[in-house]
Formats: sequence, structure tokens, C-alpha cells
Amino acid sequence: MAERTVKIGLSLGADICWPICYETLLSDLKLDVRHGGERLKFVSERVTIEPFNLQQPVSYEVVIDRLTHWYSTSREWIKKGILLDDLYVYNNPWSLQSNEKHTSYAAMMRLGLPVPETWMMPPKAYDESEDLQETLRQYARMFSLEDIGNELGYPFFMKPYHGGGWKGVSKIDNLDEFQRAYDGSGKEVMNLQAAVLPHDWFVRCVGLGPQMRKINYDPAAPLHDRYRTDIDFLGAEDTSVLEDMTVTINSFFGWDFNSCEALRRDGIWHPIDFANACPDSQVTSLHYHFPWLIKQSAMVDFLRRHGSSDAQESELGSLLCHCRQGYLAARETGGLR
Ligand SMILES: Nc1ncnc2c1ncn2[C@@H]1O[C@H](COP(=O)(O)OP(=O)(O)OP(=O)(O)O)[C@@H](O)[C@H]1O
Ligand SMILES: [Mg+2]
Repeated sequence: MAERTVKIGLSLGADICWPICYETLLSDLKLDVRHGGERLKFVSERVTIEPFNLQQPVSYEVVIDRLTHWYSTSREWIKKGILLDDLYVYNNPWSLQSNEKHTSYAAMMRLGLPVPETWMMPPKAYDESEDLQETLRQYARMFSLEDIGNELGYPFFMKPYHGGGWKGVSKIDNLDEFQRAYDGSGKEVMNLQAAVLPHDWFVRCVGLGPQMRKINYDPAAPLHDRYRTDIDFLGAEDTSVLEDMTVTINSFFGWDFNSCEALRRDGIWHPIDFANACPDSQVTSLHYHFPWLIKQSAMVDFLRRHGSSDAQESELGSLLCHCRQGYLAARETGGLR
């Protein structure tokens, strides 16, 4: 039986713990999987940032992206790899670039998820350009923060439309705070979103392929203590709502790895942030949940290669469909337990 080594590329940023644990786990597992008439071994390698020829072949079959969302050279290298070399990447930049947080709100409203009322504001300031003043003079309408605040109702949250990492997020309780926060927002385009307050649960449902982990989250706790260690703290009904919501979102956008943040008020789960290109994977945040994440990452890579035969696919539902096929195939061949 022919033997082949599958190379997994790790496109990394400042993550320290995640890659070390992932590499160690993968190497200690010494995977030796019989599949499709081949014996497969797996190795990982860190992807470097350097000039590249578009025709230069890619030696990886899967790339795990922990960086490219923010670094355009790596992101474009990955995109060309998907187009030219049948590279499989999660999360696929193609599925993210046009789907900022704001777009994800709109899409999930359309599907009927109870996303809180959300507005978009024109920015307070613009980059100067030759036609800026003329464009604004002709088309930009004056508006009243007071009217918008009253219509949306206090409190609400103001946050960048493509945001992440809690950057530029503020809770607004009155007109003065609204004025100050808007004036300070500069060139950022902001969403305003009705606050789901008070709520009795705040859960981050981390989805990696078909694997889900519901984590009780306390945003008021210090950074290391936000992800609580409760297990099985939700009833069957709540669990199924959160899992369905996360699967729906990830399937819709073709995201393999995402964290869906939802708040429960009066028995209804409101998703408030679910466009997380590189969900937090630091041991310092996830601590107790970290081993789960590393294990699932290794598994999804395997499923991806053996559940999906060809290049990256992003059609609705393909994620689940292929992961499930892969999972069944892996169970049959004894590759995964
Ligand atoms: N509609 C809302 N109702 C209640 N709380 C909210 C709402 N929107 C945001 N928040 C609070 O603000 C925090 C940050 O908001 P959000 O998650 O949208 O921004 P972010 O930049 O993605 O932050 P992070 O990287 O921590 O997820 C949330 O964890 C939550 O505590
Ligand atoms: Mg968030």
C-alpha cells in the first residue's frame, strides 16, 4: 500500500500556546491511517511570510489560518493556493472577506434569527480625497444622534462594523455618552446594537466542523476568568437552539471554525457576535476548554482531507455534509475514536 505524508500548514500570528500544543499532539499521535488505498501520515509546518510567485506550488493539503484575516500577504497567498493549488483552508478567506460582522447580522436577520435591532452609522471622519467634499455636500444627510438614540433606546452598544477583539466597543447609556463615543470613533464605520440587558446567560458556542462546545462566558470577569468551567449547564432545549444557531451560521458562510456569542433574555437566545474569523484560542483565555479545542482541530484537519475530495467548497451546507461523511469514513477505518 502506497504511503503518503499529508502536510498541514499553520499560518500563525502571535499565538504561542496553540501551535505548540497542536504540533505536539499531532506528532505524539503518530497517525497512520489507511484511506482510499493509501497509508497516510500527517506532519505540520509553520507557514512563513515571504515573496511568492503565483505559480509556485503549495506543498500543504490543509492550512489552518490563525493570522491571515489581518495580514494581507498571507491572506492573498492562501487565496491563490485555494484557486491554483486546491488548497483547503479554514477559515477560508473567500468566505470572510465580504462577510464582515455587519453583513453577518443582515444575513442572519434574513434567516430569522433574533439578532437585536442594529443600525449602521456613517463615520464621524473620512480620509481626504479629491472628491470627498463634493460627495458629502451632495449626498451626506445631517442626522440627529438624539433622535437615533431615542429610537433605538438606551442602553445600546456601539461597535465597529467589522470588529473583533473588543476594540472600539462601548456601552452607551445616554445621549452624552453617545455623543462622546461617536465623536471619538474617527473614521471607523460603526454599528449600534440594542443591548440584550439584563440577560440570564451569555454563552459562546464554539463550533469546529460539527463539534460544538457551549461555554458559559462572563465578560465582566478578568480576562483569564471569562470562560467559565461549567459543563452541561444548559438544558436540552437551550443546547439544541445554540447548536442549531451555530451550525446554521457556519454552514451559511462556509466557516469551519467560529464562536457564536449569544445572550438569553426571557427565554430567547439573541446572537450578538458570530463573525469571528480567528476565535480566541489562547490557553490563557480558554484554560479548561483548551484541550478540547486542540483535539478538535486535529480531528477537523483529518476530516477535511477525507470528507472532502476536492478543492475548497463554500456552498451552503457543504461543511456539515462533508464533515459528516468524513467522520463516518474515519469511524469505519478506525482512524478516529
Ligand atoms: N447587543 C449586545 N447586548 C449586550 N451586550 C453586548 C451587545 N453587543 C456587545 N455586547 C458586549 O460587548 C462585548 C463585545 O462586543 P462584541 O463581541 O460584539 O465585540 P468584539 O469586538 O467581537 O469583542 P470580542 O472579541 O470580545 O468578541 C460582548 O462580549 C458583550 O459583553
Ligand atoms: Mg465578540
